[in-house]
Amino acid sequence: MSIALYPGTFDPPTLGHFNLIQRMVTHFDRVLVAIGHNGAKTPTFPSEERIHLLKTLTRQMGSVEVHAFDGLLVDFAKSQGVTVIVRGLRSLLDLEYEQVQAQMNRQLGGMETLFLMVDEKYRCISSTLVREIGSLGKRLHAFVPQEIEEAVFHRLSSL
Ligand code: COA
Repeated sequence: MSIALYPGTFDPPTLGHFNLIQRMVTHFDRVLVAIGHNGAKTPTFPSEERIHLLKTLTRQMGSVEVHAFDGLLVDFAKSQGVTVIVRGLRSLLDLEYEQVQAQMNRQLGGMETLFLMVDEKYRCISSTLVREIGSLGKRLHAFVPQEIEEAVFHRLSSL
């Protein structure tokens, strides 16, 4: 059975993340979407809220599970029987960072990373830009999925 892990901060999830999850579902038996901690980032959305947003987005997808984990990605991946990590690449700018992460995850836990190119429509979207635009009072329909736009906008516009 192929079990793929899609890790990220998801602060908040965007159309780009959702597109990648939809595409992963067609290639793997199980897809674990997992919220991890990036030491360089202080999240705006509490972990429980990000779990709720991702669950809302994936509730029609029977093969998708949403998790949050502490500690090393490779340890969580192994504990779940994951066969491969999947990450999205938006442009060459992402490549250098991702290359280091992938190499480190292979070294730390023998875990391979597969890269999917982010759909061209979503290449300019990042969670940071979504947070900035929402906190300045602009609606977010062009950047986050319809099902969670209200909740994301509500939190950001009340910061
Ligand atoms: N479409 C559009 N944008 C996307 C995207 C997609 N498909 N995939 C990622 N992005 C954006 C995100 O919005 C995010 O934007 P931001 O920088 O403005 O927040 C950015 O690309 C990358 O972030 P994300 O995918 O959330 O990953 P991350 O680098 O913040 O998260 C973890 C990395 C959590 C996976 C990593 O820190 C980790 O593994 N932590 C656990 C500890 C560990 O094992 N550390 C050692 C790792 S070698």
